[in-house]
Amino acid sequence: MTSSTPQAYRPAQIALHWFVMVGIVVQIAIHEPMVRETTAQFAGLAPDPADTTLAMMHGLLGTLIFVAVLVRLWLRYRYGVPGHAEGTTSAQALIAGLVHNALYLCLLGMGITGMVTRSGVANLGDLHFVINIAMVTLILLHAGAALFNQFVRKDGTLARMIPALRR
Ligand code: HEM
Ligand code: HEM
Repeated sequence: MTSSTPQAYRPAQIALHWFVMVGIVVQIAIHEPMVRETTAQFAGLAPDPADTTLAMMHGLLGTLIFVAVLVRLWLRYRYGVPGHAEGTTSAQALIAGLVHNALYLCLLGMGITGMVTRSGVANLGDLHFVINIAMVTLILLHAGAALFNQFVRKDGTLARMIPALRR
């Protein structure tokens, strides 16, 4: 663990944050072939060849996202993260911390339930779906708070993840 609190997120932390965000959007957009293929798999039926490529992409990109999240957690542990923006109350800091931790849990949960289902060990598709809904809800809250803090409270929160906004 780092001995002092860093001033800013490292470029790798920022790059991985946005990679995971784009990855999640793509994952949600291409989930249907994966659901059809998994339903066929667990029913003992042959999958539709038209679904194979996108289902494979969902598994591959999902696994990459999972690895990116593990690297993010390691970077967080190794180098730490900057303290909260100036003017953040202790209640806001508590909520932000809880949401960030919950997001990490959802991201890990998505990877684990997806891989267990894909490998045919057990069908955790329903859990994968429920975690996805919880994660999307948290993402909307999180993104809303970041935009509000940046453009209404003007405390530079978003600039922490988009260095081009720094003044
Ligand atoms: C898939 C979508 C997203 C996920 C899973 C996600 C997840 C996270 C997590 C876990 C952190 C905490 C990083 C850490 O301290 O280790 C974080 C930080 C941050 N995210 Fe996101 N995020 C997403 C989308 C967004 C969007 C759309 C925005 C902006 C509109 C945004 C803005 C930020 C900002 C500004 C921070 C730094 C907050 C601070 O240090 O106070 N994120 N994000
Ligand atoms: C954060 C990353 C991921 C996101 C956002 C995501 C998103 C989704 C969504 C929205 C569904 C549809 C759920 C439903 O309607 O039942 C789905 C299904 C599925 N995903 Fe993912 N996924 C991710 C990662 C993964 C990974 C890593 C794997 C496996 C390597 C995977 C395998 C599956 C499987 C097998 C299904 C079908 C489940 C079923 O039939 O109910 N996913 N995914």
